[in-house]
Amino acid sequence: MSNNDLIVGLEIGTSKICVVVGETRPDGTLKILGVGQAPSRGVRKGEIVDFETAMKCVHEAVVDAEQKSDVMIRSVYVAVAGGHIQSFNNRGCVILPEERDEIDDQDVEDVKISAREVSIPAQNAFLHSIIQHYHVDGQDGVLNPIGMLGGKLEADFHIIHGVRTRIQNTIRCVKELPLEVEDVVFSALASAQVVLTQHQKNLGALVVDIGGGTTDYILYVDGAVKQSGALAIGGDHITNDISMGLRIPMARAEKLKTEEGSCVLGNCLPGETILLKDDSGFAGKEIERETLNTIIHLRLRETFELLKRTVEEEPFINYVGAGIFITGGCSLVNGIDHLAGEIFEMPAHVTHAQTLSGLTSAVENPQFSTAIGLLKYAQAVQVDRPRRGITRIFGRFFSGMR
Ligand SMILES: Nc1ncnc2c1ncn2[C@@H]1O[C@H](COP(=O)(O)OP(=O)(O)OP(=O)(O)O)[C@@H](O)[C@H]1O
Ligand SMILES: [Mg+2]
Repeated sequence: MSNNDLIVGLEIGTSKICVVVGETRPDGTLKILGVGQAPSRGVRKGEIVDFETAMKCVHEAVVDAEQKSDVMIRSVYVAVAGGHIQSFNNRGCVILPEERDEIDDQDVEDVKISAREVSIPAQNAFLHSIIQHYHVDGQDGVLNPIGMLGGKLEADFHIIHGVRTRIQNTIRCVKELPLEVEDVVFSALASAQVVLTQHQKNLGALVVDIGGGTTDYILYVDGAVKQSGALAIGGDHITNDISMGLRIPMARAEKLKTEEGSCVLGNCLPGETILLKDDSGFAGKEIERETLNTIIHLRLRETFELLKRTVEEEPFINYVGAGIFITGGCSLVNGIDHLAGEIFEMPAHVTHAQTLSGLTSAVENPQFSTAIGLLKYAQAVQVDRPRRGITRIFGRFFSGMR
């Protein structure tokens, strides 16, 4: 296997660091060779808060991935998340010079730059400009304008941006190891590459990745990204609520949530309890099952209602035909699909990476959707790279870094 066939995805999550090593096959398919993991420390709500500690954890996960997949990792695609991620839609426009009437690569590049001529907060940097639709001399629905005749090229983009230094901190954390950063990708965009099919994107779908500290989302209508963002709220908030509400240690609360928890109400027998055995420094306790489920239900309900209010600021949710696709570790909460379906009033599904070969246990774990999604994203970008000049875009993050 040549090194060029290897792609590595890295997610520095709030709960875990995950490194997925994949191989592109000659037939274009992707095979997962190995997954490295380490518990995450020094990360809060998806953002690095203790650089040295986070770096050690990333190193641990990379070494684990190298051992599991039996390869040397030199470069990675990195996911970024956090409440600082914002997005908007904008149209760019390019008028061709009089002497030329055929649209070329440079016009496509220029129309993208034109769409970015919008003021974003001074401390922010562009992360993605995702093409929605091209228009040539007013003709809609153009898929690829290169080579077409026209005088005016317009294009609608979904543009994602975030606080430059926070993105740079993530990159630095990797570069100091030292590993090359191939690209940085918004985490929900990565997840969507493997949890949705093209057909679902065309029908309209909302992907919600609920991790430990963030809820990242991305919404597709007619195959194009229309909305995206991140809420600084996740499964760790549920654990915290359980710990506070039931007065038990955080580690006990986490175990209780993952092993016994559900967000379905009214499903328990009257007076049904769970016995927490005593342990060093903990006297043991009997917990009412309905109380546990109510705590989980209320926090998840609040999260989905906040997400609903956020996406309803624009009209696109009304055009989502395939429904909601929930992934990330928190999607494992029993009954979460019903709760999301009830709040959004549309079908909701719990999902993980689809259509990939290799380690089944990794593919089927929704906690790995983002890191696996990075591989699929990378594969698509590598095909496009010469045309889109991806390397040039990097300057925005790497400038000013030591
Ligand atoms: N079986 C389970 N039931 C309920 N929750 C679970 C289960 N397994 C994991 N979780 C929760 O999923 C969360 C971690 O998910 P994930 O690994 O996707 O997060 P992350 O990617 O590290 O964090 P983030 O993306 O928010 O920075 C934790 O809150 C954990 O408690
Ligand atoms: Mg995550």
